[in-house]
Amino acid sequence: MSEHFDLVVIGGGPAGYGSALYAASAGLNVALVERGKLGGTCLNVGCIPAKELLETATVVRTVKRAGEYGVIVEPKKVDWEITLQRKRDVVAKLVGGVGQLLKGRKVTVYDGTGTLGANRQVTVVGADGEQVTISGDVVVLASGSVPRIIPGFEPDGNVVVSSDEFFEIPHVPQNAVVIGGGAIGCEFASTLADLGSRVTILEALPKILPGCDPDITREVQRSFKKKGIDIHTGQQVHGHTRSATGTTVSFGDGESIDTNLVVVSVGRAPYTENLLGSGNAVAVSDGGFVEVDEMYRTAEDSVWAIGDSIDTAQLAHVAFAEGICVVKEILGENPSPVDYSRIPWAIYCDPEVAFAGLSEEAATEAGYDVAISKHRFTGNSRAMILDDTAGMVKIVAEKRADGTAGQILGVHMVGPWVTEQLSGAYLAVNWEATVDEVAEFIQPHPTLTELFGESVLALTGRSLHG
Ligand code: NAI
Repeated sequence: MSEHFDLVVIGGGPAGYGSALYAASAGLNVALVERGKLGGTCLNVGCIPAKELLETATVVRTVKRAGEYGVIVEPKKVDWEITLQRKRDVVAKLVGGVGQLLKGRKVTVYDGTGTLGANRQVTVVGADGEQVTISGDVVVLASGSVPRIIPGFEPDGNVVVSSDEFFEIPHVPQNAVVIGGGAIGCEFASTLADLGSRVTILEALPKILPGCDPDITREVQRSFKKKGIDIHTGQQVHGHTRSATGTTVSFGDGESIDTNLVVVSVGRAPYTENLLGSGNAVAVSDGGFVEVDEMYRTAEDSVWAIGDSIDTAQLAHVAFAEGICVVKEILGENPSPVDYSRIPWAIYCDPEVAFAGLSEEAATEAGYDVAISKHRFTGNSRAMILDDTAGMVKIVAEKRADGTAGQILGVHMVGPWVTEQLSGAYLAVNWEATVDEVAEFIQPHPTLTELFGESVLALTGRSLHG
């Protein structure tokens, strides 16, 4: 007799462990199958280690400016092994924490590769070849994603790395070429440049961070240039030729660049290897994504799929939200699916980027007449104290027929700690709040978030400092 559960989850990343924890907190008897480490990409080779290394970069910047504050710190040197060890320690604590949480909620964790068969039976094969079969009233597939690879740029873990290997590079390279200027590429480029590498970004599209409002991208580009990052947009890479010290990357119209390290960050592909056996109707698209309807239902009865393996925004916090939605659905609570046009985005390069809702372009395309307010951190007292005044807040609001600003449609931020400042703006966008309503809220002084308050206030036609 195979063991039976209310819910079997395949995959222990944010989508999988999130839905397991949420379901267990609602009283369901849950099994979680994971073939690698709990925490998935996010904790092990994604969000967390990326932010950890970015924090080392922040400390380097702070130390560089310490003299301005009368703090004399000499000599300045990065010990990369200590940096890596700190990152490993933080990751290990968080991975252990997920294990403890699952244990605390009596989720049964199976260590192995789970394959869905017929009648919601899941076969789990451990690393030692040992096999067990379990089943669930419902099954949630959350098998995640892997880095996309460009043919000819297969990672060797030494000179060519993807985000999987980046977090264990043995030293900070003198030169680095980052292929792809999306969120991952910009975070890695920013880290390496602050740590002293000479960085070049090669991006195929006409601009880096293609999903961002153009005003925000321009600001990042300006700051990156100041750090010495070379940005080549509209460039295709063709291949690379290894040398004694690194490799030569050819790109564009016969151009080339010598480098010690190539970082490939051109997106992530859904991972479904060994996920689906025979006897079920779960379908996979041409792009490799598990196919789901708007409530994350696959074509197989009582089997759902969430997270990076479905064709939605590949973000940990989105995966959590999808997991909660599915569990509520299982419990018959009639939840609303995630509104992807209003999810929060946070990119942790320096300067940070954070936004929610429509860009100016998207709002206009959607048929809105828009009212825009843009305010810079230059005059913000806290930013001045931090000596970090690059950046801005841009509000996109609906312009009413009488010319006044109405509903806040989107908020776009770039600058110091904006990833921590987005939540108020996110609430405003998702609550469909108007400029007049939000303008009444008080922002504490002195804070960076005053800039959001001032930007909203300015849209009422009056202002304080803005
Ligand atoms: P991405 O899709 O955001 O960006 C990849 C970039 O590579 C695009 O700008 C694309 O035009 C470019 N590109 C593709 N092929 C290329 C080629 N052959 N040559 C040059 N450029 C090329 O993917 P990314 O940055 O790898 O991130 C993967 C996923 O993880 C994304 O969904 C992203 O949203 C998510 N993520 C989010 C983070 C955040 O929000 N802080 C951090 C890291 C990842």
